[in-house]
Order: sequence, then structure tokens, then C-alpha cells
Amino acid sequence: MSGNSTHPRGGPPYVGRIPEILTGQKALVTGGSTGIGAACVRALAEAGADVAINYRSDPSSAESLAEDVRSLGRAAMTVQADVSSEEQVESMVSEAVDRLGTIDILVNNAGLQADAPFEEMTLDQWRRVIDVNLTGQFLCTRAVVREFKRRGVVPEVSCAAGKIINMSSVHDAIPWAGHVNYAASKGGVQMFTKSIAQELAPRKIRAIILSPGAIRTNINRPAWESQEAYDDLMKLVPLDRIGEPSDIGRVLVWLASDFSDYISGTTIYVDGGMMLYPGFAEGG
Ligand code: BGC
Repeated sequence: MSGNSTHPRGGPPYVGRIPEILTGQKALVTGGSTGIGAACVRALAEAGADVAINYRSDPSSAESLAEDVRSLGRAAMTVQADVSSEEQVESMVSEAVDRLGTIDILVNNAGLQADAPFEEMTLDQWRRVIDVNLTGQFLCTRAVVREFKRRGVVPEVSCAAGKIINMSSVHDAIPWAGHVNYAASKGGVQMFTKSIAQELAPRKIRAIILSPGAIRTNINRPAWESQEAYDDLMKLVPLDRIGEPSDIGRVLVWLASDFSDYISGTTIYVDGGMMLYPGFAEGG
């Protein structure tokens, strides 16, 4: 392996600290205790936001991340909920609003894979992925949008009444054999987000799709853990490195801030060029 084991090909460039462009804002991050969600929590806190960290089954990771957020001088809380449960989502959002005062930024990050060859995929695998990845975004967004509308724009905080960032994937556009439940859920996230963006724009609420490529987390560990798998993966990544969770956190902060106030209803791919069909660099 060239380089070190964390960044076999050099890792992301050092870009310094995230500027404090979210001061006074309150964010709720679903699936916030690990992986991309945890990187989003850290980046939001670094940018000045107070954060509610949702988790489903791992209170200790959520609590230690909350401690890190507090050490930056921000407020942090943890809240348990399965995003596919209407009742649990309603109580999570009201608890976050009670304790943080309001919510300005919703990051619908919770998601999972349950892979299987198509003809072997069980109805349970299909439903679980659609329930968490798509219905979960619907339930969380509906509950938080009610708060955005109640509060409206507070100009000292943000020129939007609220920002919704829905975590998707390159597989909202790239078909994925063996993962049809996952790809279908992310395709659904696209049209769900575009449609709410259209419906909520008159209220100055923005909704954006953030679509990562291959990011180094547990969900895709087999795709990067061995050198052989990593080299194979790089055939799909023109920028020739795996993404780190912080690559997503940095873009998220910008999307949640007023610096991107004229963006709504579109998809931002953060994928090292995976969407460029690298196989065509020499073929076709
Ligand atoms: C999936 C990963 C995969 C990546 C690129 C993501 O949405 O969760 O498992 O490595 O897409 O294919």
C-alpha cells in the first residue's frame, strides 16, 4: 500500500477550519452518531450551529459526539428514534424544538443498505430500505417543515425559513445491480426532494439533494478495506481517492448556509467524478 493506511492515495487536501457561517442556527441530523452523519454533526458545530444528534441504536457514540460538540462551545443533545416510525419522529422533533428552541437545518442522513440478488431479495429487505431511506425522509421533513412555517424567516439568523438537506447517493442516477431496493429508495429521494422544493419555495424553505459517491464508512467497508478492493474501486473514481466523511460535511455546511441561498431542488454530487462514466475515458 502506498501512503498510510488511512489515506492510501493521499487523502483529502487540508483546507483549514470551516468558517463560522452558521452561528446561531440549530440543526437536526438523523443517523448522526456515525459515518457521514457524524461528520455532518462535526462540520455543523465547527460552523457555529447547535446540533441535535439522532441515533437509533448506539447511545454511547451519540453521547461522545455530543461531548465533542460541547467542547467547541455549541449546544448538543442526543435523541433516540427510528426515522421510519411516525410516532418516534414526531416526538424526536418536538423534543429537539423544545430543547434547542427551534430547528433551522434538517439533515436527513439516516439510511441503510440491505443487499441481495434481485430474485432473492425478501419483501422485508425491500420494505426496510424504503421505510428508512425514503419514508424516513418524508416523516422527518414533514415534522420539521411545520416548525419552519410556524417560525418563518428570522433575518438575523438566516434569509431562509429553513433548509432541508436530503442525503442521497450517486445511485439516485447510476443503476446498481444487487442493490435495487437501495437504488430505488435514492431515486425516490430525488423526486421527493424536488417536489417539496417546488412546494415550499414560496415559504423561503430550501430543499437540496446531497449525493455522495464512495465515502469511507462502514456501509461500504468491503469496497475499500483491502488494497485489491480499493484499486478496483478507483477504476470508478476519476479523482483517484476514496471520499472521506469530512468531504461531505464541508459541502453540507455550505448548502445549509446563506452562501447557497439561491440553490433549491437540485442535486449536488460529491463523488470524485464517479458520475462522469469513467469507463468512457478510453472507450465508447
Ligand atoms: C453506497 C456505498 C457505495 C457508494 C458508491 C453509496 O451510496 O452506500 O456502499 O460505495 O454509493 O457506489
